[in-house]
Amino acid sequence: MTTTEILSADSDGIERAAALLAAGAVVSFPTETVYGLGADASQARAVANIYRAKGRPSFNPLITHVADLEMADQLGDITPTARHLADAFWPGALTMVVPLRPDAPLAPAVTAGLPSVALRLPDHAIAQSLITALGRGIAAPSANPSGKISPTTARHVQAGLAGRIGAILDGGPCPMGVESTIIDLTGPRAQLLRPGGVTPDDLAEILGYRPEVYAGDAITAPGQLGSHYAPTVSVRLNARDAQPGESLLGFGAMDADENLSPSGDLAEAAARLFAMLHHLEKLGRPIAVAPIPDRGMGLAINDRLRRAAAPR
Ligand code: TXA
Ligand code: MG
Repeated sequence: MTTTEILSADSDGIERAAALLAAGAVVSFPTETVYGLGADASQARAVANIYRAKGRPSFNPLITHVADLEMADQLGDITPTARHLADAFWPGALTMVVPLRPDAPLAPAVTAGLPSVALRLPDHAIAQSLITALGRGIAAPSANPSGKISPTTARHVQAGLAGRIGAILDGGPCPMGVESTIIDLTGPRAQLLRPGGVTPDDLAEILGYRPEVYAGDAITAPGQLGSHYAPTVSVRLNARDAQPGESLLGFGAMDADENLSPSGDLAEAAARLFAMLHHLEKLGRPIAVAPIPDRGMGLAINDRLRRAAAPR
């Protein structure tokens, strides 16, 4: 066990967090999507500590967070398509998988030995300040124990990982609430590896076509493997109402124990999704979830809900 420092996200806190990262510790920090569990991406020992803290299978590669396009360019090959997408969506909830630069200052575990690297420039002032203070890319998966619900507050991180990580930089709740969209740009056409904050329609506007959903070997995007984001209680989807003993997670105008968005706003629902699942999980009853429209941010919400409901 280590003592986990809770740091406020002022300049002292960010400086302390950067010093811990430079010394090889893992530090959780806020982004606009979810809290990340960060390590200095250039240090093999630090990156190994991420896998250890999460209990994550080591074949699963990590996203490297950068502070600007120049830093991205040192790690991966920013192709013309990547450049267009970066201009449109960075900083923001888009992760791009691009060819790895052979001389990139990255521990091999970050890419799990793949010849590609996943890069993201987060749209969050605290995250950007932290990366700038470290001066190097920060490798960071979501800051939850492997397979559990993702964290959108510092308290969620604390509940899952206290005693296993160096510090938590508390920057309040994450405004977007679901993880970034991951797009693979290593082939002739862009492929969607994970739906997220940037929708396929958003991407189509820049690409000129809707990216195909990746359908190959799921090992490169283990978020696609069955059970993930799983609460400790069972989850039933497309429920019109609750069975006796169930909690109901609603959407739109309806009576429910919790409601993702009474007005039917999908962005609001995404922002609340993980916090409401954390809350309902604590009640200990099975969770029934109302139908969510499968468009826009609803694609990412339904993706996460399907994983939460998948057989364990
Ligand atoms: O919003 C987010 O993306 C959050 C915040 C913290 O930025 N991060 C996050 O990271 O969700 P993580 O590690 O949970 O998701 C990383 C995903 C994995 O499913 C992994 O398979 C995929 O990115 N990935 C990473 N590198 C890859 C690569 N070289 N090729 C294909 N997929 C890759
Ligand atoms: Mg995750």
